[in-house]
Amino acid sequence: MLLDKCRSFSAADDARALGLYPYYPGSQGPSGRGQVVLDGAEVCMLGSNDYRALSSNPQIIGAAQDALALYGTSATGPRHRSGNLDLHEELEADLADFFGFEAALVFSTGYMANFGVVSCLAGRDDMVLVDERAHASLVDGARLAGANGARVLSYRHRSPEDLADHLAAAPERPSLVVTEGLFADSGRAAPVAQIVEVCERYGATLLVDESHGVGLLGRGRGVIHESGMAGRAPLVTLSFGTSLASQGGAVLADARTVDYLRHHCRPQLFAAGLSPAETAAAHASLREIMRQADRIPDAVTAAEHLRAALEALGFDVEPSIGPIIPVRFPDEQGMLSAQRLLLDHGIYANAVLAAAGAGHRLRVVCTDAHTPEALDAVIGVFGQLREKLIPQRRQPD
Ligand SMILES: Cc1ncc(COP(=O)(O)O)c(C=O)c1O
Repeated sequence: MLLDKCRSFSAADDARALGLYPYYPGSQGPSGRGQVVLDGAEVCMLGSNDYRALSSNPQIIGAAQDALALYGTSATGPRHRSGNLDLHEELEADLADFFGFEAALVFSTGYMANFGVVSCLAGRDDMVLVDERAHASLVDGARLAGANGARVLSYRHRSPEDLADHLAAAPERPSLVVTEGLFADSGRAAPVAQIVEVCERYGATLLVDESHGVGLLGRGRGVIHESGMAGRAPLVTLSFGTSLASQGGAVLADARTVDYLRHHCRPQLFAAGLSPAETAAAHASLREIMRQADRIPDAVTAAEHLRAALEALGFDVEPSIGPIIPVRFPDEQGMLSAQRLLLDHGIYANAVLAAAGAGHRLRVVCTDAHTPEALDAVIGVFGQLREKLIPQRRQPD
């Protein structure tokens, strides 16, 4: 029977029975303020993507409230019908301007932007090359492109050499190369300069998902700008669920490509437009990021401090940049136990199960909301729990 797999699914119950289930923590109240009430207890939130802590900023909330009062709760339909608001178009104009593109197109989620753009632009006779650890929305878009006749391959994580080998093997195919800019789980940047060079050499079109670099790196513009490659990646996508403190997503491209997507991209055509309040919140956040573009974000400074402290304590910290600090554990049980122990001591971090070739990690994330005092308290807890968290502790260098 179809639902047999659901009835026999027991992994979540098994983890719950052991007290090690790490998902769907119940957040009571806002999660963007550094401290949050999770399942009734106040904890330090070190697992939020609200990197610039704008989701609780009064100015952003005010912009969303104003839009709600003026435009109502809903866009009322897909954008090509009743749902195209001036709010969408104003946001698109500022996104294009800030990131240095001719045009932008807003979607109702970042997932839909990635899924829609990849599956719309690649099809029969094309090739899609996806970094093996790219976000599910990019992978799923590539799968649909594959169902439509594209040849879909993954290349080794962050490897321009492997990418070049694949492109060299099929130089005649129009190709789309897909990567995250800053990888969400590991906090490592793609080698964008080398990937751009390979794409240009083989005439491939590059799409970079800047969801986790926007607002943080490259003067707020992401990894492409940070790598000195502005203008050299023809397609950029982003989610508004990170530094833009909202819901939604966008693609940035040349005007002809955006117009093509406006008329062919199915998640754009067959879904309601982004709601007024979400659009206004994303736009107000973008304005704030533009205003502060010359400052190094507090989230980045905080993460540098915490990363160095965790390394000094002997934790197995993977190299990363920006606000994400991946702390590796030898096995799933060790990682889940560490996550639970930290939670019991007032710290929430994300549990990330191993992807292909990657270890089990805690994803520890700093935001602008983490004060030096809060971080010192966090470092104190990691220090106090060190022997329990690292059974076979590496000696600090
Ligand atoms: C790299 C990346 N791209 C896209 C998305 C999807 O964005 P959204 O949450 O806006 O659908 C996410 C969110 O998990 C992400 O991490």
